[in-house]
Amino acid sequence: MKVIESPGDIREEVGRLRSAGARVGLVPTMGYLHEGHASLVRGAAVACDLVVVSIFVNPIQFGPNEDFERYPRDMARDLEICREAGAGLIYAPTVEKMYPTGFQTGVSVGRLSRPLCGAMRPGHFDGVATVVAKLLNAVRPDMAFFGEKDFQQLLVIRRMARDLDMGVEIVGMPIVREADGLAMSSRNVYLSIAERERALCLSRSLATARSLFAGGEKDAALLLKGVAEVLKEAGVTPEYAELRDVETLEEVGRVEGPTLLALAARLGATRLIDNTVLGR
Ligand code: PAJ
Repeated sequence: MKVIESPGDIREEVGRLRSAGARVGLVPTMGYLHEGHASLVRGAAVACDLVVVSIFVNPIQFGPNEDFERYPRDMARDLEICREAGAGLIYAPTVEKMYPTGFQTGVSVGRLSRPLCGAMRPGHFDGVATVVAKLLNAVRPDMAFFGEKDFQQLLVIRRMARDLDMGVEIVGMPIVREADGLAMSSRNVYLSIAERERALCLSRSLATARSLFAGGEKDAALLLKGVAEVLKEAGVTPEYAELRDVETLEEVGRVEGPTLLALAARLGATRLIDNTVLGR
């Protein structure tokens, strides 16, 4: 499992293996890997002959007051997790290799980038789309794998790949959770024991909405009221909790087809997101 640090070298190495007939899968990450990331690598290893994992904490997707500097990093452990999950190559560029002096090009996806996390984190999805475009251009995979944990990100990237004729299949993978329901996230390490306990209200509020929906409730306002009550009881004020069309992210008043229930909340200084799809 080679570790490659420059876009030219990864392009050459993957190119060689592709010419030998390998079907190539890419799993983009920011490192500090957990079982959620590992599930993407394993999924990629089932569908592809060569799995490339990129590990790069992307400065341009963090806002000025966000956690870029303190984002957790542990390359040795990440490499071990990648190896065990079936990765064949690691692409881990430095910031200088990714954004050399003079860099000034960006990718911006329209409507899908605007609501939810896009509204709370201005410029975030431009930063994500730009780095993922660069990763896809450097690796040129047949397939790229993303978690539904970041559902809006998955939609933004799928749109970009289609709109820019990138010729890559974007595959969405299910959310991996801790045994108690908390969605796995590299940022969970920031949580104190008390915050970790309170954070369970996110997945619990989604479960509440799921059971209301299973009981026949389709009214968005009433479903969201159920979510709000669970969060309030735990003393958590969401940044947003919304029901939106699972493809267009348009707001919905009633849940008639597959609908994304997405939420974000701060636990102390830590921003967490979670979601579920109703009616799927
Ligand atoms: P990162 O947060 O490291 O996540 C990398 C990939 O793992 C994303 O596709 C994310 O959705 C997925 N993932 C994270 N937690 C998961 C979980 N609990 N279950 C399933 N999948 C999970 O997302 C990013 O990095 C960056 O924005 C990136 C796409 C790499 C661009 O910089």
